[in-house]
Amino acid sequence: KRIYVPCDTTALSMGADKVAKLIERHANARGLEIELVRNGSRGLFWLEPLVEVETDSGRIGFGPVEAHDVDALVDAGLFEGKSDHPLCLGMVEDISYLKLQQRLTFSRIGITDPLSIADYRSHGGFVGLEQAVSLSPQAIVDEVKASGLRGRGGAAFPTGIKWQTVHDEPWQQQKYIVCNADEGDSGTFADRLAMECDPYMLIEGMTIAGLAVGATQGFIYLRSEYPVAHRILNEAISRAEAEGYLGRDVRGSGRAFNLEVRLAAGAYICGEETSLLESLEGKRGLVRAKPPLPAIKGLFGQPTVVNNVLSFAAVPFILAKGGQTYAHYGMGKSRGTLPIQLAGNIRRGGLIELAFGVSLREILEDFGGGTFTGRPMKAVQVGGPLMAYMPQNQWDTPMDYEAFAQLGAGIGHGGVVVFDDTVDMGEQARFAMEFCTVESCGKCTPCRIGSVRGLEVIDRIRAGESPEANLVLLEELCETMVDGSLCAMGGMTPFPVQSVMKYFPDDLTA
Ligand code: NAI
Ligand code: SF4
Repeated sequence: KRIYVPCDTTALSMGADKVAKLIERHANARGLEIELVRNGSRGLFWLEPLVEVETDSGRIGFGPVEAHDVDALVDAGLFEGKSDHPLCLGMVEDISYLKLQQRLTFSRIGITDPLSIADYRSHGGFVGLEQAVSLSPQAIVDEVKASGLRGRGGAAFPTGIKWQTVHDEPWQQQKYIVCNADEGDSGTFADRLAMECDPYMLIEGMTIAGLAVGATQGFIYLRSEYPVAHRILNEAISRAEAEGYLGRDVRGSGRAFNLEVRLAAGAYICGEETSLLESLEGKRGLVRAKPPLPAIKGLFGQPTVVNNVLSFAAVPFILAKGGQTYAHYGMGKSRGTLPIQLAGNIRRGGLIELAFGVSLREILEDFGGGTFTGRPMKAVQVGGPLMAYMPQNQWDTPMDYEAFAQLGAGIGHGGVVVFDDTVDMGEQARFAMEFCTVESCGKCTPCRIGSVRGLEVIDRIRAGESPEANLVLLEELCETMVDGSLCAMGGMTPFPVQSVMKYFPDDLTA
């Protein structure tokens, strides 16, 4: 009998290891032969640890299971997969939070053992790579272009066009594939889930990128706060090498691709692609001026594809099923699906993969089920700490890059952080500036000094010192930071501040 207990960071932090041990002990005591599979998480975080029991009709779920629940669950029929225990959730696939999703990228998470290549293959893994091996590099790039995939790290630049730029650089040059896995936005965890629960998907996506542009070496620049992902990725890379999916001759193609993980050092700015490259080269994480683009002069001055985990993770599906199949999902210029991460003050937090076009309100209410505290929602921040706070009258906006941009908001990396009516939005505006004072790389004046002055001005407004004059000063300072900063850190920090001035002015001056 197969029993599944997840092994990703969320489940582990909720006591999954202890639950797994207790289940094994009970099975041994009863002389039952069970196969305990440490799967990834399905991303239904409010149910973790989510224990699943395989039955003839599918997988029955129990959750959230704490160590002290295990005795009663076993007595109530856990091993038989049928129970009237209150923690029994019925068929996992029928839980509406999961059933209503359109999982193209995250189709395997929670289902498979993350490190099993056999599991990966039997659930559609490596089909995209086999397809890529049979195609010319230009045909791979064309397939990615046809999918309409845009960079999922936040900037939404067309992935196929980025790959074309690197492809078009002379092939005798050393080229690199770099994965930005320095997931630093508040409320985001989709990169981590992809790496911990389906690591071969990222390996496959990066290998396809290597074949497409003629790069033989890849690096995953991984957030140092992700030790579980670090262990899983390293193990997955060595197993993929052993089976010929990486190395000198990828699947008999005669083309090489090698992959290494490099640990980041905990600076938010190293998620910006040029300071990431500096850091990867062993230097301090200072932002480089663009141009030249990394696609032309990137790592060690060589042509480099820098993409986010989620962008690479979407590629195996695109190659396996065709770019048109992926492009069939979505709206306008936002094609395919978006892995949305629901966090903050929300009842049912977790990962929701849906086609672009779903409204923010559907995500908050139908999936999220309202706030965790049960109080009314007041504001939502989509896309990380550098994005606008959205008031209630904007929640019917469809998840679409252009629709959000029209409001002065952004989708970013797809993180959604919810606040209830007890939040002090003036404090949130202050936090945005303070965050920038701490995380600024210091290279340019509007960001390095502007954020410090911004913090002081906000403190004066909040202390009631000439609020009108200081609000004008704050607005001018924000405009200077937007126009004069070298990168998105200083250039976008004003967005949350300006949204508070516009939509929650009373909180700022209270
Ligand atoms: P950007 O607009 O400068 O560039 C986007 C990407 O397209 C870059 O990789 C750039 O090199 C590439 N590019 C542009 N023109 C190109 C061309 N002609 N050929 C090939 N490549 C080309 O944006 P940037 O500064 O890289 O990212 C800013 C975004 O990062 C923000 O919108 C924000 O949403 C996001 N962000 C994400 C975070 C996360 O944790 N995921 C954290 C902070 C910000
Ligand atoms: Fe560095 Fe800030 Fe300037 Fe970006 S905007 S280069 S983080 S000082």
